Amino acid sequence: MATAPRMAPSTSTVTNQALAEFSSDVIVGLGQPGQKELPSKYLYDEVGSALFDVICLLPEYGLSRAGMRSLKRYAPDIIDCLNGPFVVAELGSGSGQKTRFLLEALSRRQRVNYYPIDISGSALHRCQQELSEMDRVSIVGFERAYLDGLQEVAARRREGEYLLVLFLGSTIGNFDRPAGDQFLREVRKILVPGDALLLATDLEKPIPQLLAAYDDAAGVTAAFNKNLLARINRELDGNFDLSHIQHIVRYDEAERRVEMHLRSTKWQRVTLRRARFSFLLRDGETIWTESSHKYNPQEVPQMGERTGYRCAGQWFDTEWPFAQNLFFAV
Ligand code: AVJ
Repeated sequence: MATAPRMAPSTSTVTNQALAEFSSDVIVGLGQPGQKELPSKYLYDEVGSALFDVICLLPEYGLSRAGMRSLKRYAPDIIDCLNGPFVVAELGSGSGQKTRFLLEALSRRQRVNYYPIDISGSALHRCQQELSEMDRVSIVGFERAYLDGLQEVAARRREGEYLLVLFLGSTIGNFDRPAGDQFLREVRKILVPGDALLLATDLEKPIPQLLAAYDDAAGVTAAFNKNLLARINRELDGNFDLSHIQHIVRYDEAERRVEMHLRSTKWQRVTLRRARFSFLLRDGETIWTESSHKYNPQEVPQMGERTGYRCAGQWFDTEWPFAQNLFFAV
């Protein structure tokens, strides 16, 4: 069922089920032998989402501006590649700002049903606010995981309507390459031939530029990363000593990805009382919190071809290597 975007839950009112899932994912990630990990989706609580909005303003982090600029410039050309009536679904509603350019171009041609899909009710709410006054666009938000939400949107479409799926911001970069392919295949299963996927990808660029983008001078990305442990302390009644945690960024040249880690600068025993879980963090040990894969322009159409699409076009930002890639389901 579609849910009307609703007010943001405060951190003290997170639902029991969400808390139970968070707790079990944290236990799995921190309890494993070898490299400890935490899923990057947990970076985005209310504090983390606000910090991410600030990241997008940093001079070092050109990615979100590239996404914005490229859609501002190329939305009409992208929309020109679509023929027939389309409904629009977006995986991760974001702020809605970039989407506006696409909805504007499409709504010149037809009335548009726009379905943002996000597990965060507060993100949906903000997106709805941002776009609510658009003429000829109706918005229904789905507070769901990406694929569940997409399934519901697909089920709602009428005879003769095609689906345009937006996956912007290079969020696909959070998946490693095999998982990225798998995700594209899962999306493809929900589509029919003629449906479209607009996939944004951040491209390879000089390593110092990438490292600076994820380790900015003002320390905002460091705060964004450390907030994950602060969140665990808040929600799971934990005792990470954040004064002995460092933000670490490195580039893995073989995998072509930026990795964010959190490194303990002392031995610490950490207890998460609410999860009934305790473990030891060694001096120098890291917790891997995010990967951000970078692509070269040629590999993106190949990703599409392997997973059930054909690439109909690529549009590149002129200032920051970044591509908008339009796929059609075959
Ligand atoms: C929102 C996943 C695209 O990987 O660049 C920004 C998240 N992490 N700074 C990215 C992020 C650190 C961002 N994505």
